[in-house]
Amino acid sequence: MSRPAQSIHGQWSSRWAFILAATGSAVGLGNIWKFPYITGENGGGAFVLVYLICLAAIGLPIMMAEIMLGRRGRQNPVNTLHSLALDENRHPNWKYLGWIGVLAGFLILSYYSVIAGQALAYVFRAFSGVFEGVTPDGARSIYNALISDPERLLAWHTIFIIITMIVVARGVQGGLEKTVKFLMPALFAILLLLVGYSANTGVYFDQAVGFLFQADFSQLSSTAVLTAMGHAFFTLSLGMGAIMVYGSYLSKKTSILKVAIAISIADTGVALLAGLAIFPLVFANDLSVGAGPGLIFETLPIAFGHMTGGTFFGGMFFLLLVFAAWSSAISLIEPTVAWLVENRNVSRRRASVMVGFAAWSLGLLTVFSFNIGSTWTLFGKTMFDLLDYLTANIMLPLGGLFIAIFAGWIMSQNTSNEEFDIRYNFVYQIWRVLIRFVAPAAIMIVFLNATGLI
Ligand code: PHE
Repeated sequence: MSRPAQSIHGQWSSRWAFILAATGSAVGLGNIWKFPYITGENGGGAFVLVYLICLAAIGLPIMMAEIMLGRRGRQNPVNTLHSLALDENRHPNWKYLGWIGVLAGFLILSYYSVIAGQALAYVFRAFSGVFEGVTPDGARSIYNALISDPERLLAWHTIFIIITMIVVARGVQGGLEKTVKFLMPALFAILLLLVGYSANTGVYFDQAVGFLFQADFSQLSSTAVLTAMGHAFFTLSLGMGAIMVYGSYLSKKTSILKVAIAISIADTGVALLAGLAIFPLVFANDLSVGAGPGLIFETLPIAFGHMTGGTFFGGMFFLLLVFAAWSSAISLIEPTVAWLVENRNVSRRRASVMVGFAAWSLGLLTVFSFNIGSTWTLFGKTMFDLLDYLTANIMLPLGGLFIAIFAGWIMSQNTSNEEFDIRYNFVYQIWRVLIRFVAPAAIMIVFLNATGLI
């Protein structure tokens, strides 16, 4: 069956536009907020190494698979999987894989927005100069004052959801391309500045480098391995259809391999820089590496509070972080919105409002788990921890597993070969081994290991 050359939602204006948008999706809170704190909680080096291996051996091939499936199907992930399965004479139930993704994106957005709201609150705190000369204790109490107040958290969460909805309602290309083009390099520059500042701490910088890059496997639990793998999916926006739906707006001429590599390198670079900026501060100020989700909010203000121009740079940093989170949030709900528009004949605007409102409501659970609901637990986890665990550690890798099976086993070799550039034939062979055997086996082993079965 022949496929439409373009999606009904339009197409990226160039290869660059796609790289920027997909990088905008990948680079976000996952890199700057989550990577440092889970690295701290899971003992450093060995965790980072497992994470990097997962990125290369599982993340990269699955990213290529998602882009390929999206570009071939040219629809939202649910319909794409449905029609690609029919093309191969397979069962249409593969569409449910698209559904897992839609659900995961929506669940992630509900808590992502609460954390992005905290970053938004910090833009104002930083610009108003409250971090000047701040002590570690002072930084901690500023953060605690924010999260212990449900009203304030709720207000910032609401503002973040609204700005996200406004952009989604206007369509993926409007605004997104331009924003990412300028803001990503600026964020990179401020991170470099922070790393430069942290490098001045001398011995503590060395200690941080050792912490991040010296692998001590005795520190590594099976849950840590699961978290590292889950984070590889989370940080590259894989396993739920975000990259697939962006791929559906991509031109046939683009080399999938090149764009996937560019996105992965940019994403990994930002995460490692964030680690190098934060850990020297943690050691120099005698803070705990296992501080949890508040880590960046409790450490970075100390650096901004003591460097020249820190009020400006601090404000800019949190502003850019909000933009990075926002370009990720957009991609979290794009699959759902595209589905509503294509299948339910709803306008883009209405679809955005519906999804935004639902995610906002569910977000209340996360808002409360930092304060009045901190004792509401299930399986020993707060609502926020539970949503995070369920989505990042279970749903995304599971989605990724089935995407790998679909691309490697359901889709015929002819079809997938056609989507890749023939000049890279040997790369295609490597990809096929990774997607058929390595990625699915690795994901299953990590799952079984975490459940204690092996
Ligand atoms: N990759 C984003 C980040 O690191 C989060 C995300 C996950 C976005 C899944 C889309 C899909 O912040």
